[in-house]
Amino acid sequence: MATASCPVHEDFDPLSDDFLADPFASFTDAPVFYAPSIDYYVVTRYRDIEAIFLNPQDYSAAAAQLPLVQLVPEAREILLAGGHKPQPSMVSLDPPDHTRLRRPAARAFTPRRVEAMRPRIQATVDELLDAVDATQPFDLVSTLTFPLPATIVFSFMGVPERDWPQLKKWCGSRASLGWGRPAPSEQVEHATNMAAYRGYLRQLVTAKADDRADDFASALLEIHDEDPDALTHEEIASILFSLSFAGHETTNYLIGNLVRRLLEDRSRWDAVKNDHSLIGGAVDETLRFDTSVPVWRRMTKRAVTIGGVEIPEGSKLFLWLGASGHDASVFGEPESFDMTRENAHRCLAFGKGIHYCVGASLGKLEARLALEGLVTRWPELRLEEQEIPFHPNISFRGPLQLWVSAPASA
Ligand code: HEM
Repeated sequence: MATASCPVHEDFDPLSDDFLADPFASFTDAPVFYAPSIDYYVVTRYRDIEAIFLNPQDYSAAAAQLPLVQLVPEAREILLAGGHKPQPSMVSLDPPDHTRLRRPAARAFTPRRVEAMRPRIQATVDELLDAVDATQPFDLVSTLTFPLPATIVFSFMGVPERDWPQLKKWCGSRASLGWGRPAPSEQVEHATNMAAYRGYLRQLVTAKADDRADDFASALLEIHDEDPDALTHEEIASILFSLSFAGHETTNYLIGNLVRRLLEDRSRWDAVKNDHSLIGGAVDETLRFDTSVPVWRRMTKRAVTIGGVEIPEGSKLFLWLGASGHDASVFGEPESFDMTRENAHRCLAFGKGIHYCVGASLGKLEARLALEGLVTRWPELRLEEQEIPFHPNISFRGPLQLWVSAPASA
């Protein structure tokens, strides 16, 4: 229920077909409103969202992966029996539990380590593009944007290649369960998949304990060896659970949004094609203009006032990161896609504060190398006539298919 001071937007439903096709049409001037369709307070302004991210004392991360619908008892039981709690991994935890998991996870993604991944990312881009039959239109998602981040993050973690298709399938269930509106029968199916997914990662940790390799799971096990209380096997499996999802769909969708936004206005693509130094700016501007994680969530730990609206303790907040990227008080002419915009990197696409995305530099590097590979190989790449499909969830947005053609350059 909304408080008296809060506007209510009865029609706002971020899972409706119209919204999924074009969320930008629903941007509003209201800094905060209540959406009965999801029982969330929607926060739209940059400064309010930034302040919430920077204040873990008053705002808990517990809502980050909370199902949007009340799960049926059978689905809830399957999840609990499978060790999947309501705050299932680091991004939903508050300190000190969060800190225990975050510290070892963040170690893997220092700028130096990410830079060391460059040759592997480059080689993967080249391999994937080599495999494309560009004599006819092709789907860029299945050929490049999906397999690139999956290959990088799964091999980095130490998941055997034969298990990647299974893991990708489980990740699909995870998106629907935590961020979609699955029907009761789908909930049971997704819950069963989640239990299997978590069980798989636990087994992976147990197997790696006896058979180390040059991968992240083994590196985490070394921390455990030094001090078993500092990081348990269960916690290692939980970190892998975080990375396997966060490191994959987010970046898949980012690359899809990036290529779409450049190709839908030829002058943008041509500018990048003629000047590769614009690539970094194109990635940053896409994160501001059409980010792949347009919504993140928090919960109030006490009664607060946001944008003049009183919000009770225990309320769920829908932080509309996508709208904050179009906040004219921070980004001048927000509807113009400007690859030379100086402050695009200030957008909140990766969050801020203690949960700031650990994989931000990796995701951006993958997107940059993917785009460089594309403009170099197919400078005349074109978008095919199509209706772009999106997965029905609130937080992960990018093309599920993106059909392009690559006429030979003159
Ligand atoms: C490239 C597109 C990506 C976007 C837009 C994105 C966005 C986000 C956002 C919005 C958060 C929540 C921040 C908060 O609560 O303050 C987050 C957290 C996180 N991201 Fe990303 N992410 C991306 C890529 C990646 C990659 C490539 C990885 C790992 C390989 C990754 C791993 C994580 C992890 C582990 C967290 C949780 C951090 C914590 O709770 O402390 N992300 N990301």
